[in-house]
Amino acid sequence: MTISPRLDRDVREHLPQPDALTDVVTLSPEDDAVWRHAVPYLQVRDNDSHTVHAYGIARALLADVPSADPAVVLPAILLHDIGWSTVPDAEVLEAIAPGGGRPDLVRRHEVEGARIATQILLELGFAHERIEAITAIIDGHDSRLHALNPSDAVVKDADKLWRVTPHGRWIVRGWFDLSAEESLHLTAVRVQDSLFTEPGRTMARVLTALGSIEVSPQLRALG
Ligand SMILES: [Fe+2]
Ligand SMILES: [Fe+2]
Repeated sequence: MTISPRLDRDVREHLPQPDALTDVVTLSPEDDAVWRHAVPYLQVRDNDSHTVHAYGIARALLADVPSADPAVVLPAILLHDIGWSTVPDAEVLEAIAPGGGRPDLVRRHEVEGARIATQILLELGFAHERIEAITAIIDGHDSRLHALNPSDAVVKDADKLWRVTPHGRWIVRGWFDLSAEESLHLTAVRVQDSLFTEPGRTMARVLTALGSIEVSPQLRALG
């Protein structure tokens, strides 16, 4: 692979201004407050890095699913997996392993997640109606095979799409001791039939295509 020689000048003063970047995502002060309350409950199974990546995906999906409510989607995605903190570490991976699975533990992380989320959101002063909308999504985000509403659909898609991102494929690879190809195949198959929004399906196709190129003999031959 040939690397171009570096330019003999500093280009920084010609970079676009931050406000010109419409699709760049940062957490709002409210989302950051929810995140800081969620983090102590997200320290098993890489749930912390999974969650903040899924938040980014949810923000992107919201731009194309105007019927979804960001005031519900964003706290829900930040809090959706906090219930794993109530499942013993050793059992967390078994709950989602290929060829295994523990539906009882998957259900438990949803129910406990909704319970802990209620406490956090009350502490943060969220209105009861909003808390109900958020926790209804958390309570069923994995086990419920239909979406309750567009906000639920966006949370479900953002959560599942993470698997096939470069970060998700890397983490899943480590969990189950897989090759890059095996991780791509596992995550892509698990994502492709589980999405509820058209923008989510487009994202899955792009991410799967990029993952396929990453493991292609042509790219690997470039070194
Ligand atoms: Fe989950
Ligand atoms: Fe998740």
